[in-house]
Amino acid sequence: KENVLIDQYGRQLNYLRLSVTDRCNFRCYYCMPEEGIDFARRKDLMSFEEMLQLSTIFCNLGVSKIRITGGEPFIRNGIMPFLQKLRVVDGLDEITVTSNGTLSAKYQAGLLQMGIRKINISLDSLSRERFEQITRRDNFESVYAGIFKLLNSGFEVKLNCVVAENKNIQDIIPFIELTRENALSVRFLEEMPFNGSDGSQVLSDWNHVRIYDYIHQHYPNAGQLISETSSTSINYKIPGYKGSFGIIPSFSRTFCGTCNRIRLSATGELRTCLYGLPATNLRDLLRKGASTEDIEQQILIAVSKREADGFAAEAASMGEINTSMSVLGG
Ligand code: GTP
Ligand code: 5AD
Ligand code: SF4
Repeated sequence: KENVLIDQYGRQLNYLRLSVTDRCNFRCYYCMPEEGIDFARRKDLMSFEEMLQLSTIFCNLGVSKIRITGGEPFIRNGIMPFLQKLRVVDGLDEITVTSNGTLSAKYQAGLLQMGIRKINISLDSLSRERFEQITRRDNFESVYAGIFKLLNSGFEVKLNCVVAENKNIQDIIPFIELTRENALSVRFLEEMPFNGSDGSQVLSDWNHVRIYDYIHQHYPNAGQLISETSSTSINYKIPGYKGSFGIIPSFSRTFCGTCNRIRLSATGELRTCLYGLPATNLRDLLRKGASTEDIEQQILIAVSKREADGFAAEAASMGEINTSMSVLGG
C-alpha cells in the first residue's frame, strides 16, 4: 500500500507500536515503582475489536509493521485470538512482539503457527540476584530458559538491556559472550525518564558513547554491521561469534532524523514521538462514532504536526517525563 503517513520532514511512518495493556507482572525500577502505577480501568482500555479497527486504518494509510507491546502484552486475556485476526489485516507484512519473557514459553508454539517469529525480550542481568533487584521479581531462571526455547524453536530473538551503574555493568561482557554460541542480538539501552514516579528519577549516566567505549576496551575487534536506516540501534559483531550486539541511544536520541514509528497506547492515545504528548485519543473518536474517514483525517493531522528531529532532544526536560514506560509502550 502507498504510505501517506509522511511528516513535514519527509519521514515515513510505516511502523506502529501498539500497546495492548499497561499492566505488567514485573516492577522494573526504570519503569514503575514497587507499588505499581494507577493502571487503566478495564473500560478505558481499547477492546481488541477497537484495536483491530484502528490497526486496519493504519495499515490502509501505509503502516506495514506492527510491534505489540505493553506493559507485558501476554498478560492481556485474549491476545492470541487478537493476533490471529490482526495478522490477516491487508497491507500488514510483519507483526513482532516485545515481552518480558515470563509467558513466552506458553505462547511460542501459537506465535510460530501464526508466522510471528521475531521477539524482543527485556533482560537486564544474567545473575538471578541482580535480575531480582532490577525487576523486583524472582523470575530469572524461567525467563532465561525461555530465551533458549525461543531460539531453539526458530525465533529471531533480541534482548534489551538497560545499562546502569550499580545495577548491571558487570553483565555487559557476559551478555556479549552469550552471542558467541547463540545467534541472538543483545541491545544495550540508555535509561529513559519514564519510571512512572514523582520526578526523582536519577538517570543512569551510561550513555551510548560510554557503553561503546567500555565494550570497545574489551573487544577492540568488534566490527560494525550495516543496519536498516530506521534502526534505533547501531549493531556490531565480534568476529566468529554467532550473534551480535547493539547499542540504542534511547535517551541521547541520535536516530530521530530517520524515525519511522508511531505509537498507540492501550487506552487509545496516539503519539508521534515517545517523548511527546499524545496528539489525540483514537479510542474516544471510535466511541463517539467517528467514521473511518474522520479517523484517518485525525491521524493525518497528527502526523502533519509531528515535531522535528531536534524536538525529542529538547523534550528531555519537559513533556511527559515520569510517565511509566508501561503506559507509553516503549
Ligand atoms: P525493532 O527495531 O523493530 O527490533 O524494535 P525496537 O528495538 O524499537 O523495539 P523494542 O521494543 O525492543 O525497543 C528497544 C528499545 O528502544 C526500548 O527501550 C524502546 O523504548 C527504545 N525505542 C524504541 N523506539 C524508540 C523511539 O522511537 N525513540 C526512542 N527514544 N527510543 C525508542
Ligand atoms: N528506560 C529505558 N528503557 C526502558 N524500558 C522500559 N522502561 C525503560 C526506561 N525507563 C525498556 C524495557 C523494554 C523496552 C521496550 O523498553 O526494558 O525492553
Ligand atoms: Fe514490565 Fe517492561 Fe515495565 Fe519491566 S519495563 S515493569 S517488564 S513493562
